[in-house]
Amino acid sequence: MKKTLILCLVTSLSFMASAQSANRLLINAVDAKTTISRHIYGQFSEHLGHCIYDGYWVSDTSTLPRKDRIRLDVVEALKKIKIPNLRWPGGCFADEYHWRDGIGPRENRPKMVNTTWGNVTEDNSFGTHEFLELCELLGTEPYIAGNVGSGTVEEMSKWVEYLNFDGISPVTAMRKQNNHPAPWKVQYWGVGNESWGCGGNMSADFYADQYKRYATFCKNYPGAPLRKIAAGASDFNYDWTETLMKKVPLNMMWGISLHYYTLPGNWREKGSATDFDEQAYFTTMKKCLRMDEIVSKHATIMDKYDPEKKVALVVDEWGIWTDVEPGTNPAFLFQQNSLRDALIAGSTLNIFNNHADRVRMANLAQTVNVLQSLILTRGNQMLLTPTYYVFDLFKVHQDAKLLNIDFTSPTYALGDEKISAVNISASQDSTGAVHISFVNLDAKKDITFRTSLNDIPWKSVSGRIITSKKFTDINTFDQPFIVKDQDFKGARKEGDELVVTLPKLSVVVLELK
Ligand code: AHR
Repeated sequence: MKKTLILCLVTSLSFMASAQSANRLLINAVDAKTTISRHIYGQFSEHLGHCIYDGYWVSDTSTLPRKDRIRLDVVEALKKIKIPNLRWPGGCFADEYHWRDGIGPRENRPKMVNTTWGNVTEDNSFGTHEFLELCELLGTEPYIAGNVGSGTVEEMSKWVEYLNFDGISPVTAMRKQNNHPAPWKVQYWGVGNESWGCGGNMSADFYADQYKRYATFCKNYPGAPLRKIAAGASDFNYDWTETLMKKVPLNMMWGISLHYYTLPGNWREKGSATDFDEQAYFTTMKKCLRMDEIVSKHATIMDKYDPEKKVALVVDEWGIWTDVEPGTNPAFLFQQNSLRDALIAGSTLNIFNNHADRVRMANLAQTVNVLQSLILTRGNQMLLTPTYYVFDLFKVHQDAKLLNIDFTSPTYALGDEKISAVNISASQDSTGAVHISFVNLDAKKDITFRTSLNDIPWKSVSGRIITSKKFTDINTFDQPFIVKDQDFKGARKEGDELVVTLPKLSVVVLELK
């Protein structure tokens, strides 16, 4: 009897202590009007290193299961995480790509030099038809970036006609001859890429005029309206966005792009993908979280010209960019992917979800074997990176209603610097289920939240977690499952409240039903 009393006392004391130390989080569905577009979960694949060639597209003697030369294990893995769109053929490569080189019998296609990425031979075996076949296999929407930098208006205009026109013309006759009688009806259309840099070193004013000129001749064919996306700014170049918004009529563009990469170091010495200490980890996460400020500032400029938020902000290149893996071609941008990458992916996707009123599309750079990949391949082997598992867990937010959240994050301090330790987003899907994604960046502390869900009834909670002992942990071809998602048992219902303890260095996604 005495023993039971003491036990009760200890339990209630520890409950009170945990209640006091728990951070408050309020989630409510009132005024939840914004849909998180599934296109925020888009991908980007360029003719760069081993992304296309030896990534998706293998030799015609490969023993792997494949459709034509597209490897199907990669396709199956990507299908599982429901990638909504795939951007192609670049990147910088887009502005040196001439689509006519990549159609027709492969043996007749010209071999050219990929001057942007290592002067390697581009044999054009993967072109328009192959890309669209890949999209069909993936069940994903194509997002094609047209060539403004070294291509003509006529060339871009004819590419759109080749893709989307269901009638009689010289290019549609060519399409039929190339065994594709029906148009594909491609919707997402990029007019150039990084036109301030590798896409032509233009001024914002000059590009705005070029955009209008090129976009005018990218026609909306019957049943195939285009969603045209202007080549936007890089990170802090707010003038670029201002100029485009000022000069281009809103009805001429569906979106404006934005590129922001998280560099642990600087452009000359980016830092290792696998060998870093807590200071480098902290600095990298601090830079990653700047995505929130960058998106907010570009969105504020857009609001000035477009208060109804008709034009989307399309973050069509993002992710961590480190030094290449030692011993690999520096022009191929092949980097490993650690638990740090998973924390970057989770935090960035939370930021995008919370800005879903303006950010309606985004593309991680670059899916397979390049920069922050979802998948790495080596010969016939394939592994899923920590980032892959984040996209798998976060797919529940696709096309769900964004819920309002209100909380103050505890801080994660290192030396004299501080960042928010936790970031969160929440949504409610069409069945009524609520999903909350948490990222705890703190390298030393577990963090507890106590949550009320105003006006959302729920009975049970389940969850998945991605974590590991060290932020440097990676998956390798010898040990491919070091960092992956697992069942999460750290959340419970107490009365009407949810109590969740987030382990340090973790991404957690909860489902409340
Ligand atoms: O993703 C690698 C490169 O980064 C892209 O080609 C370019 O658009 C950006 O500078």
